Amino acid sequence: MADRLRADLVAAGYTVDGVLDRVGAAAHAALPHDGGAAVRHVLRETSDPCAVLIRAWTLGEPVAGTHLAGALPRTGLTGLTSLGLIAPAGAGRVRATCDVRPYAVQSGAGVLDTWLVSDFGESVIGGPLPPDHVLGVGGASLTLSSWTPRTAVGRALDLGTGCGVQAVALARHADQVVATDLDERALRYARLTAALAGQTWDLRQGDLFEPVTGERFDLIVANPPFVITPRTSEVPRYTYRDGGRAGDELMGTLIRACVDHLEPGGVAQFLGNWEIPVGADHWSHRPEAWLADTELDAWVIQRDVAEPAEYAHTWIRDGGHRPGMAGYQELTDAWLDDFARRAVAAVGFGVLTVSRPGAVGAAGSSGDRSPYRVFEEVLTPVAEPMGPAVAAGLAARRWLADHPEAAVLDRAWRCAPDVLEERYGVPGAADPAVIRLTQGGGLRRTVTLDTVGAAVIGVGDGSLTAGQALTAVCAILREDPCAHRAQVIDLLRTLIADALLIPADGVPTPGG
Ligand SMILES: C[S@@+](CC[C@H](N)C(=O)[O-])C[C@H]1O[C@@H](n2cnc3c(N)ncnc32)[C@H](O)[C@@H]1O
Repeated sequence: MADRLRADLVAAGYTVDGVLDRVGAAAHAALPHDGGAAVRHVLRETSDPCAVLIRAWTLGEPVAGTHLAGALPRTGLTGLTSLGLIAPAGAGRVRATCDVRPYAVQSGAGVLDTWLVSDFGESVIGGPLPPDHVLGVGGASLTLSSWTPRTAVGRALDLGTGCGVQAVALARHADQVVATDLDERALRYARLTAALAGQTWDLRQGDLFEPVTGERFDLIVANPPFVITPRTSEVPRYTYRDGGRAGDELMGTLIRACVDHLEPGGVAQFLGNWEIPVGADHWSHRPEAWLADTELDAWVIQRDVAEPAEYAHTWIRDGGHRPGMAGYQELTDAWLDDFARRAVAAVGFGVLTVSRPGAVGAAGSSGDRSPYRVFEEVLTPVAEPMGPAVAAGLAARRWLADHPEAAVLDRAWRCAPDVLEERYGVPGAADPAVIRLTQGGGLRRTVTLDTVGAAVIGVGDGSLTAGQALTAVCAILREDPCAHRAQVIDLLRTLIADALLIPADGVPTPGG
């Protein structure tokens, strides 16, 4: 039946591009903020198939049964009822039981037009969300999806799948997808999402890693219920965002537990919040503590920081409570008291990407080594999608960690195609005052170079190793290569880690 519905939805133009064409970019962009008012204005009294489906499954409005049956001739009302997607609404009308939203997955295999099945949001419900709300695609879902490395893998796990937004993308580059959730209703929706995508996932119910006890994966992703929530009775426990642990401890639990579920060389990626305690010397205090007793390589990027009051407002508002509404003040008090009890100065948000060392085929590896740990704050816009840069960054960082520091001098490197050199100077001056490399993609890095560093990078045409380039440059500049060696090694490692420099022979760093 899902096959028939998919064919109907495509024929009706109820796809990402079809809906965009039907309602226009402006009304479509307003949809998350205006409760569908602009879309309603565009559709007015029309009853073409795409308009009927937008009303039913995006706006959550009752529609005439005859119109819906006409829009979906292969499925019909009987088919929709058997899939649990509609219920009678009186006077010959039917109402969708859930949100069925077009979604497009871009991958190396092309674009997959599909749909995500979830609960209707606040604008359709018309009030605060119930605690068992199953989230549709949101900003955090899209962030994780963008950052996930899309390297082909064997087994992938989506922990806390919800409507299945991560799993549907994983299935494009993983041989097998296991998707779990604590919530039975979420799994019902995920099952429909998978069926509409024509995909098969292994769906399992349970808490965190419990449904995959004893199993290992090449890739684990989770947009977990990471919202720091006071554990007091007046605060609703939304399953979609509250993992039931005090403070940010859910993230620590996930990080420590994922070690046992990763294959050697496997990668786990989590979105999450971390508390930044009053007096902490660095924002990464908590992520560093979670990783301390593990052997995981880790690359943690803080993308946002919120003061406790701002954080509390965001999540109270997310549940449908606005300032001035009954209960808003009590909820604010509960959140701020909770943060005060643990002396929390701010809350960080970001992407934690960890990897289990020991990838098969790490040729040239120096063997046992300490895990690398990178904690960096990037609050500015980054490439979209970020997955390719994450994959390249993981491979490069692993190669750097696996080799002695000076090994970078033994290879030939060249600038990646998205890197530009900028030179600034006083007008008329013979030499520039500042030389910078800027990266167009990835984390959009900017790195300042000295004259020797710029010359070593500049001669990188693939014919010389970096060490040979340093010797040649120093001969021309009448400098002692030994005096610049350590600084050039540091510069090369910085540029290699973020893929501003790539191997000149085109052979990726092992694991890439
Ligand atoms: C923020 S939603 C993410 C949904 C979806 N993966 C996404 O990226 O949009 C978190 C999901 O985790 C589920 N969840 C909550 N507590 C859980 C637990 N203890 N174990 C497993 N899943 C849980 C929720 O039901 C919800 O579907």
